[in-house]
Amino acid sequence: MKKSAENTVDKTKYRYAILFVCLGNICRSPSAEAVFRARAEEAGLGETIDIDSAGIMGYHTGERADERSIRHAAKRGYDVTSRARRFDPQRDFARFDLIVPMDRDNLRELQRLAHKWNAAPDIRPMTDFGSRRDVKEVPDPYYGGPGGFELVLDLLEDASGGLLTEVQKRISKI
Ligand code: 4NP
Repeated sequence: MKKSAENTVDKTKYRYAILFVCLGNICRSPSAEAVFRARAEEAGLGETIDIDSAGIMGYHTGERADERSIRHAAKRGYDVTSRARRFDPQRDFARFDLIVPMDRDNLRELQRLAHKWNAAPDIRPMTDFGSRRDVKEVPDPYYGGPGGFELVLDLLEDASGGLLTEVQKRISKI
């Protein structure tokens, strides 16, 4: 290989793809996308990691995130920009290296779909990457008050560092 080619890194080519999944894709997973993207960009990996989100149900397809999620995230400096879409087993199991559900129901549904579609995806709950051993899911804030939206962001911020460390480890082995 020529020296010039060795020294050229194609930073526009994603090397690792992560999908965050919740029920409606308007509260938790769009927030996870925004928080994790901020951490990835701080680490200089914004052009290396492909980050997306999807919902188990398609009820809110095409909508912007819930305005409460947008507002609470903005107060912490995060820009929640995604449009809701439904998880697509055929496309998403093939496209993403890691699928990260927010709660146990999301996890079970992804496992059911993987079985149905004969896929073997890497699925790891978001809270697996956090420091709080007592917390096993990011709770659905949709029908609750402002505290639920703050808790979602607390848990996402707590888990994003661990997730980034894990992804950096995986990228270094590719
Ligand atoms: P999310 O929250 O799964 O965090 O996006 C929800 C959003 C909408 C609904 C449920 C949960 N819903 O029933 O419409």
